[in-house]
Amino acid sequence: MFAIETIGLTKKFNTTVAVNDLNLHVPPGEIFAFLGPNGAGKTTTVKLLSGLLRPTAGRVLLGGIDLAQSPQEAKSIIGLVSEQPFVYQHLTGFEFMRFVGDLYRVPVEEQAEKIPELLKMFELSEQEHQLILSYSHGMKQKLVLASVLLHRPKILLLDEPLVGLDPKSARLVKEIFAELSHRGVTVFMCTHVLEIAERLAGRIAILSRGSVIAQGTLEELREQRAASTTLEDIFLAVTGGIQYGDLLKYL
Ligand SMILES: Nc1ncnc2c1ncn2[C@@H]1O[C@H](COP(=O)(O)OP(=O)(O)OP(=O)(O)O)[C@@H](O)[C@H]1O
Ligand SMILES: [Mg+2]
Repeated sequence: MFAIETIGLTKKFNTTVAVNDLNLHVPPGEIFAFLGPNGAGKTTTVKLLSGLLRPTAGRVLLGGIDLAQSPQEAKSIIGLVSEQPFVYQHLTGFEFMRFVGDLYRVPVEEQAEKIPELLKMFELSEQEHQLILSYSHGMKQKLVLASVLLHRPKILLLDEPLVGLDPKSARLVKEIFAELSHRGVTVFMCTHVLEIAERLAGRIAILSRGSVIAQGTLEELREQRAASTTLEDIFLAVTGGIQYGDLLKYL
C-alpha cells in the first residue's frame, strides 16, 4: 500500500488547470521531493493532499484511506507545514503547542514531557510564553515544525519547509526528516532548494503546468538526461531553461 496515492487528481481554477491528472505513488518512509517552477501547481497539490482544497476531479488516498470519504481519519495521520506558517497570533508558542496536542489527542502527560523538549530543540524556549505575533518568520516556521512533530504523523506534507530558517535550524530540520524517514514516516516536500532534493530525497518529481514531466531517483533522472549532471541542469533542461531574449540589454 502507498502512503500517498493520487488517482487522476485535477484542480481547475476557472480556466486555469493548476493540477492536471496527477497520479502519484509515494511508498511509506520515502522522502519525495516535489519540484517545479513558480505556478507549476505544487502548493495546490499540497492543499489537495491535505484536504484544504477539494479536487475538481480525481482522488487522494492517504495510507490507503480515501480523503474525500473519510476526511477526519485521513487527516489524522498527516502533519502539514504550509507555505505561510499557519499559527494563531494571539496564542503564545507554548499555548499553540498545547492546542495542537489537544487537537490531535496527544495525552496530556505526553504533551507535558514533549512540548518543552521540542521547543528547546528548536531554540524557542526563551520565547515560549510570548505571543506568536512577536515571533519572526523563521520562529513561526520552527514552531509549526515543532507542533507537527508533537503528534507523530505518519505522513508529513511540507511546502517549502526551509524558507526563512537559519543554517543551523535548516540542518536540524534536514536531519529530522532523514531520521523520520528511517522510522517509516513519509515526507512529501515541495522545495526550490535543489540541494535538499539531491541530498535527502529518495525520489524526485518535477511538475510543470500541473503535470509531472520528470520523475525518478536522482540517478534515474541523470540517466534520462545524459548531458545533465546536476539536478539544476536537469531541472532547467526539462522546464525549458532560461530565455534571456533582450534582457541582457537591460542589465
Ligand atoms: N485560489 C486560487 N485561485 C485562482 N488560481 C489559483 C489559486 N491558487 C493557485 N492558483 C493558480 O494555480 C496555479 C498553480 O499555483 P500554485 O500556488 O500551486 O503554484 P506553486 O507551484 O506552488 O508555485 P510557487 O513555486 O510559486 O509556490 C497558478 O497558475 C496559480 O495562479
Ligand atoms: Mg507554492
